[in-house]
Amino acid sequence: MAGIQLFKAKYEVEECLEQIRECLEVGWTGLGFKTVQFEEAWKAYTGLPFAHYLNSSTIGLYMAVDILKEQYGWADDDEIITTPITFVSSNHAILKSHMKAVFADIDDTMCLTPQSVKEHITDRTRAVMYVGLGGNMGHYYEIVDICKEHGLKLILDAAHMAGTRYKGEIPGREAEVVVYSFQAVKNLPTADSGMICFKRGEFDEIVRKKCWLGINKDTYSRSSDSGNYKWKYDVEYIGDKGHGNSVMAAIGLVQIKYLDRDNAYRRQLATWYREELKECEDKVKTVRIEDGCESSYHLFQICVEDRDALMMALNAAEIYPGVHYASNINYRMYEYAKGTCPYSDYVSDHTISLPMNLYLTYDDVKKICAVIKNFVNR
Ligand SMILES: Cc1ncc(COP(=O)(O)O)c(C=O)c1O
Repeated sequence: MAGIQLFKAKYEVEECLEQIRECLEVGWTGLGFKTVQFEEAWKAYTGLPFAHYLNSSTIGLYMAVDILKEQYGWADDDEIITTPITFVSSNHAILKSHMKAVFADIDDTMCLTPQSVKEHITDRTRAVMYVGLGGNMGHYYEIVDICKEHGLKLILDAAHMAGTRYKGEIPGREAEVVVYSFQAVKNLPTADSGMICFKRGEFDEIVRKKCWLGINKDTYSRSSDSGNYKWKYDVEYIGDKGHGNSVMAAIGLVQIKYLDRDNAYRRQLATWYREELKECEDKVKTVRIEDGCESSYHLFQICVEDRDALMMALNAAEIYPGVHYASNINYRMYEYAKGTCPYSDYVSDHTISLPMNLYLTYDDVKKICAVIKNFVNR
């Protein structure tokens, strides 16, 4: 890949191969074995009480809404307040469960604002889908308070938040469920996988069954049990095939050891970006991180007036940033909310995610910022 890329995962290659070799030599690459080890490692890292390893965070978000709806007796067309500025997985999860996605607006933290969330609460609101965009927590703790006050469940889409801390602690215990992504370009990359962390043990048990077609005993236990009847199991739900596998977990078990080191370098990159762009802060708005939040900096976002032209100028210099995200309200299934979230519309048309990967150097950041400064001062 020539030029400076937005993302480029950096793996501890030899250690990953060692872990994968173990799977191949043992002859077990499926559910169980390394997936259980990784769940334990993730619980130890986050301090969250339960964790189930999945093949993506998308299935985790689908399961989160599905299980909460079923267990709390929510009706079709009951509402979940959510953000337009996210990957569609967050919002598709709501529609998949036949509920209504009600869009509230964001601010320059790129996350939902407490005021807008409050304004959208009705007697059919059941939950808030909160996305820590780019690893930023935005006004998370105020949203936690609003949920408590109004009896709403909080679903935390933490796809970008692996390693994000608030005053030294990993957030999430306040939420009903937290869903992480370990997809190919995320801060803890495994190729493809995710983790769902319910607050309640009963729901963790349910998700384990639902992500294995509804079967109540995993294949590893069945093939490693020495007793009789190991082929016997019951099927309690019409579930999905959503669980993770031992090869992905093997990579995860290595990468988790380096997550804090890697995120510290991402924060260094963000500091360099901020320093370099300070002199044009009237024309280049950088994402706002609230005091106390130590962002994972999955993304470093800016907003500029002529985004598309700046994108072309960066591409001409062989720099390839991205956009996170176009407002989901642009897509046909969410069009009913057109015009309701003006700041999200602004972000959708003006934001750029600057390259944020562990191969970047200080000189790369200076080069990227030089193109941006030239462009906005032209
Ligand atoms: C905010 C957000 N939520 C969910 C997802 C889905 O993650 P996965 O690819 O692991 O399903 C993504 C992926 O980019 C995302 O950015």
